[in-house]
Amino acid sequence: MKNQKTNWLLDVLILSGFLVSFFLNLTGLAVHQWLGVAVFLGIVLHLVNHWSWVKSVFSRFFKKTSARARVYALIDGLLLYGFVMILETGLVISTWFNLNLSNYEVWLDIHIYSSIATLLLAVVKVGLHWRWIVKTAAKIFKPEPKQAPQGLTTAPQMSTVSRRDFLVTMGLVGVGSALAISNVLPSLKKVSASTEIAENTDATVNTAQPTAESTQVQTADAVLMDAPTTVPTATAQPTAVPTAIPTAQNSLVCYAACPRGRHCSFPGQCGRYTDSNSNGKCDLGECG
Ligand code: HEM
Ligand code: HEM
Repeated sequence: MKNQKTNWLLDVLILSGFLVSFFLNLTGLAVHQWLGVAVFLGIVLHLVNHWSWVKSVFSRFFKKTSARARVYALIDGLLLYGFVMILETGLVISTWFNLNLSNYEVWLDIHIYSSIATLLLAVVKVGLHWRWIVKTAAKIFKPEPKQAPQGLTTAPQMSTVSRRDFLVTMGLVGVGSALAISNVLPSLKKVSASTEIAENTDATVNTAQPTAESTQVQTADAVLMDAPTTVPTATAQPTAVPTAIPTAQNSLVCYAACPRGRHCSFPGQCGRYTDSNSNGKCDLGECG
């Protein structure tokens, strides 16, 4: 029983840490990276705790074992694969190694998509184990009295689980996961937007010479940080896509392409930090 309680606590810790990892805007990058590693170590411990199950199922996987055990093993295998992907891509884009990546956005995309897919699998897994989760929670929070009061004979208590318990468990995990996923969806859109801007930047940098009218034109993805005092004329036709790199000509307008909406200064707070004009500020969040 002690073992089950410890397993329950570890499972709750893993799931909570996993969910919190989706709120990078609240934790900050340093905590996010350490938390991600801690969740992975928790998974390793979780796997060690169930090692005898793993050995017995995998030795019989292709021979004689129940369909249920096969489904569990498949989900566990996919979950493990998902966590390895998250850790691997996380380390590649991490500030710890500060790798000079030309395809940073692709790694970040894989990092985010594998996090979402793994979370959805984890929800399925909680659904498969909900009875054990509810029963063990009841033993932890409502322990049965050790001795019946003198003179009273009590019938042994059957720990039963109801439909309501299922709805409460899945409701809590479902709402937590929905909040976590909805928190990163805007980042995914911004990542693809910043990839487009970066590609356009590559194509137009050094050639972009905005005209007087076009200096105040804003693209759909760009954010106007300093409101211009003059209204753009109807004839405004940008001759080139505005870049994130401010020049003397477009200094009135700030095209914030940083998905984190920051104005990082050296050494930056993420792997996308670039400073092509060597002014100590990240090009992606720079204002003229
Ligand atoms: C968010 C991630 C995860 C959660 C919330 C979770 C939760 C659970 C729960 C509630 C159980 C049943 C009760 C118990 O702990 O004894 C369980 C069992 C198990 N878990 Fe996980 N788990 C997760 C990830 C993983 C991963 C990545 C693996 C790696 C292979 C894994 C392997 C196992 C195994 C082998 C069992 C026993 C067999 C089974 O019923 O599936 N789990 N897990
Ligand atoms: C439980 C595991 C993890 C999950 C669920 C997770 C999830 C995420 C998500 C959803 C984002 C995008 C957040 C946003 O833009 O709002 C992100 C970004 C990031 N994660 Fe993780 N992560 C995990 C572990 C790690 C680890 C272990 C590392 C590195 C050691 C790491 C490094 C990063 C970095 C560097 C970013 C990018 C920050 C940026 O450029 O905006 N993550 N992660």
